[in-house]
Amino acid sequence: MTAPVSARPRTRKAVIPAAGLGTRFLPATKAMPKEMLPVVDRPAIEYVVSEAVRAGLGDVLMVTGRNKRALEDHFDRHPVLEATLSRKGDQRRIDLIRESDLVGDIHYVRQGEALGLGHAVSCARRHVGDEPFAVLLGDDIIGADEHLLERMIDVQQRLGGSVVALMEVPEESVSSYGVAAVEPVEGEAAGVMRVTGLVEKPAREDAPSRLAVIGRYVLAPQVFEVLENTAPGRGGEIQLTDALQTLAQGEGEGHGVHAVVFDGRRYDTGDKLGYLQAVVEFGVAHPELGGQLRDWLKDFAADL
Ligand code: UTP
Repeated sequence: MTAPVSARPRTRKAVIPAAGLGTRFLPATKAMPKEMLPVVDRPAIEYVVSEAVRAGLGDVLMVTGRNKRALEDHFDRHPVLEATLSRKGDQRRIDLIRESDLVGDIHYVRQGEALGLGHAVSCARRHVGDEPFAVLLGDDIIGADEHLLERMIDVQQRLGGSVVALMEVPEESVSSYGVAAVEPVEGEAAGVMRVTGLVEKPAREDAPSRLAVIGRYVLAPQVFEVLENTAPGRGGEIQLTDALQTLAQGEGEGHGVHAVVFDGRRYDTGDKLGYLQAVVEFGVAHPELGGQLRDWLKDFAADL
């Protein structure tokens, strides 16, 4: 039986997997997690943590891997640097470096081996417990004014089960994503769909649609049980998409998958081109650098 809305706990926790190997961004990611690559003056993951906190998820668990040190240091205090800036009377920069350690309540868990996104999520089981939780991929940045995660949390609380975010991609790109088959949900706006099937990185001719899963999820805790029983799939990795496919086709509380279709601004900073686009867009929007960068870009583009 499906629990009534009032009985459903609201999502409070965010899990940010950041233990992938980042092979698409080598050699930059040989010794540094791709989530630490700077987008203008902040590492990509800081935008993601801020998004979670803005959506009311003050409890953040990062799943880290071999190169976790830089991540942990970034979200911690740096007394030596603070003292040096203080001696120089540079309060503005002290405030800037304190922003990342004041952002939320951040916890860490280690994924010993990069066995896939599904495996990274299962490492969060003990911390999350028996409540719905959000997953935000640490290299996927959503525009700050989009409110996608808030919409997904609302849909999860009203409809139960799990919720994925989908974005329409060109036909030639479907094989880089998890792709969904969807149908409308009676009484819901057009942007909320029921997911009837999911397939990870399908060949173009096998893709059920052009709606690709992007890096935001709100998951029912039942996903942990399903992940336990999910065999390695594509690329020998335990795929979150495969577990969601099981949940989409199952019945009962915690089963069922809905989607929020998103058409706003999103950057895959784990991809070299997506990263460069993010740097340009955030650079142009930057309060100090924006004007100069825009002028320079116009001159530069005129000569291309
Ligand atoms: P990606 O699909 O981007 O894989 O992971 P990747 O290995 O990190 O990067 P490429 O494709 O080799 O360049 C999606 C998200 O899942 C995390 C990554 O850190 C990223 O945020 N992830 C992936 C893990 O935490 N652990 C894994 O074992 C795999």
